[in-house]
Amino acid sequence: MKNEILRLLKERDTYISGQQLCNYFKVSRTSVWKVMEQLKKEGYQIEAVRNRGYHLLSSPDVISEAEISSMLKTQWAGKRIVYFDETDSTNNQAKVFGEKGDVHGTLFVADKQTAGKGRRGRGWDSPPGESIYMTLLLRPEISPERAPMLTLVMGLSVAEAIREAAGIETKIKWPNDIVVDKKKVCGILTEMTTEMMYVNYVVIGVGINVNQQGFPDEIAKMATSLYKKTGKVYRRSELIAAVLERFEKNYDTFLRTGDLSGIQEAYDAALVNCGQEVKVLEPGHEYEAVAEGINENGELMVRLPDGRKKQVFAGEVSVRGIYGYV
Ligand code: BTN
Repeated sequence: MKNEILRLLKERDTYISGQQLCNYFKVSRTSVWKVMEQLKKEGYQIEAVRNRGYHLLSSPDVISEAEISSMLKTQWAGKRIVYFDETDSTNNQAKVFGEKGDVHGTLFVADKQTAGKGRRGRGWDSPPGESIYMTLLLRPEISPERAPMLTLVMGLSVAEAIREAAGIETKIKWPNDIVVDKKKVCGILTEMTTEMMYVNYVVIGVGINVNQQGFPDEIAKMATSLYKKTGKVYRRSELIAAVLERFEKNYDTFLRTGDLSGIQEAYDAALVNCGQEVKVLEPGHEYEAVAEGINENGELMVRLPDGRKKQVFAGEVSVRGIYGYV
């Protein structure tokens, strides 16, 4: 009922009467009053006026289940939300719940991670109050070799969501870093358990630097936040809802085509080093080439100096700009 009341309060720009809420939820006035008190404790400013009812004046930047749910317009993504004030890693939690059979589309969100994980065994700095740490649990009916493509589907969805909810143009650094002004604003970590022929589940973890004013020295050169780009503070729940909405749409396209052909054009348009020289770092071997965009399987197509085309697989390969990270 709390999620629903919050949604109703947000939908109305004016007062909603206590009696209307009682009738709608078939509960007593005291129950409605208790929900309002709970919301106030969580930081919502709610005005209560005799004979008129309740009016939501402002919402805090919280990423609780109620706050995210009240903004979601999805069919299945984030219909169930598991929220933690603090946890080791939302990817770890998604895997624990995934093993227990939790449903497709469940979202795991934390305000703080104590053991945030990055790619290639690295950590992911995860202080509270300013960032997004979320993981989506999926049970796609696709063959295991197609599952890594979902990382690119998420990459594009995050870039689109940031444009839509924050009005900031970001770029994608293949395969799945989101960058602003050549610095990383979001990282994505996909993990999965598969059988020979089918995918058991996939978890896609997304870390977005939203309201950080600064970063620890070790990452300050490479990392940025939406706040650092514009000087504005963003509502994390709004961004989370936007990511889920974009993902749901792009995922449906992906399932329909069975590959990335349906989102390839949008992805290439956002690709930071499309048409530019890049350095491809393979284990024990590095070479320079010009990036030409992805193919329908999500591999990066590059042109070598002798004119030959080559496909670069994600995984152990890393692509850099000639002069640094991008
Ligand atoms: C990267 O190295 O670029 C990937 C970073 C992924 C970080 C996110 S934060 C939410 C989820 N939980 C984790 O432990 N990692 C991912």
